[in-house]
Amino acid sequence: MTTYNLALIPGDGIGVDVTEAAMRVMVAAGARFGFDLKTETLPWCCAHYHETGAMMPENGIAYLRGFDAIYLGAVGWPQSVPDAVSLHGLLLPIRKAFNQYANIRPHRLLAGVEGPLRTDGFDILCIRENTEGEYAGAGGRVHHGMQNEVAVETSVFTRAGVERILRFGFEQAQARRKHLTSVTKSNAQKYSMVFWDEVTRELAADYPDVTVSHMHIDAMAAKMVMAPQDLDVVVASNLFGDILTDLGAAIQGGLGFAASANINPDRSAPSMFEPVHGSAPDIAGKNIANPIAAIWSGVMMLEHLGETAAAEAVLTAVEAVTGQGIGTRPGKNTTEEITTAVMAALEV
Ligand code: IPM
Ligand code: MN
Repeated sequence: MTTYNLALIPGDGIGVDVTEAAMRVMVAAGARFGFDLKTETLPWCCAHYHETGAMMPENGIAYLRGFDAIYLGAVGWPQSVPDAVSLHGLLLPIRKAFNQYANIRPHRLLAGVEGPLRTDGFDILCIRENTEGEYAGAGGRVHHGMQNEVAVETSVFTRAGVERILRFGFEQAQARRKHLTSVTKSNAQKYSMVFWDEVTRELAADYPDVTVSHMHIDAMAAKMVMAPQDLDVVVASNLFGDILTDLGAAIQGGLGFAASANINPDRSAPSMFEPVHGSAPDIAGKNIANPIAAIWSGVMMLEHLGETAAAEAVLTAVEAVTGQGIGTRPGKNTTEEITTAVMAALEV
């Protein structure tokens, strides 16, 4: 029997609740489809920061490298650790260190889920650049606290980085409805975004079967609300992709349904799977967090591991459950009820 070694980082808040739920479903899927998930839970979170002075141990990245995949719940407990400290100590360095340059986020309505829009016929795959751009971390501050204080944060766009994310997007489009929308702001940002547009045009020649649209981020925000059914694969920079995928989450019924995968496409290091939502301290530990985003992220993990039949079965089980009206609105069902229902549907 195939065994996969998974590093679990439940993290903070509802990250703990939903990781437990998702893993129960993943392990059940393994039992049914003949693979074993060997999990090691790593206690890296904001409480760990208080105990040790760091979000993860110094050898954390080296340690994670040995796993087949990483599953992360959520990171952040802003009441006690500033977000910029907790995220730069755990989530963001993992994405960069393991070259998880493609952050994939599917946006569509699951069966039975009502979104806020009048249309329900959309199926968007957002591909967010995940290692550079506005998140490169290039910058600094001088004259702290003084009148002449200066803060600079420079976006970094490399040809290698832009090319690889666009190629990934083109390939995803080829496997879907063959339309790619590249999102920039090249009417205002005349260096990095004009460069991105140029690279998109250059590469388009290699993918003649894919039609390409160029959109500015502001117009794209409107389009995702007014006509999301016209979109297929959407590729955007790190920050633009971050913002658009919360919008995507909203139109698919909320963050409780938004899954994501941080993929290293060349498989030179583990990929990481996590729901888009955060740690939601206000509802942590109350058994009311929606585990569906986390379970769907687990589905993306199974796909990445090559367990496609299991992945399909879990997503079908999730939609059987939401199709019955379970877990379709915040507070309607408990975390436990939704998880148990998905596991039962998986048995059928
Ligand atoms: C996300 C999150 C993170 C991001 C935060 C927590 C740093 O919002 O995964 O979308 O901005 O990438
Ligand atoms: Mn985000």
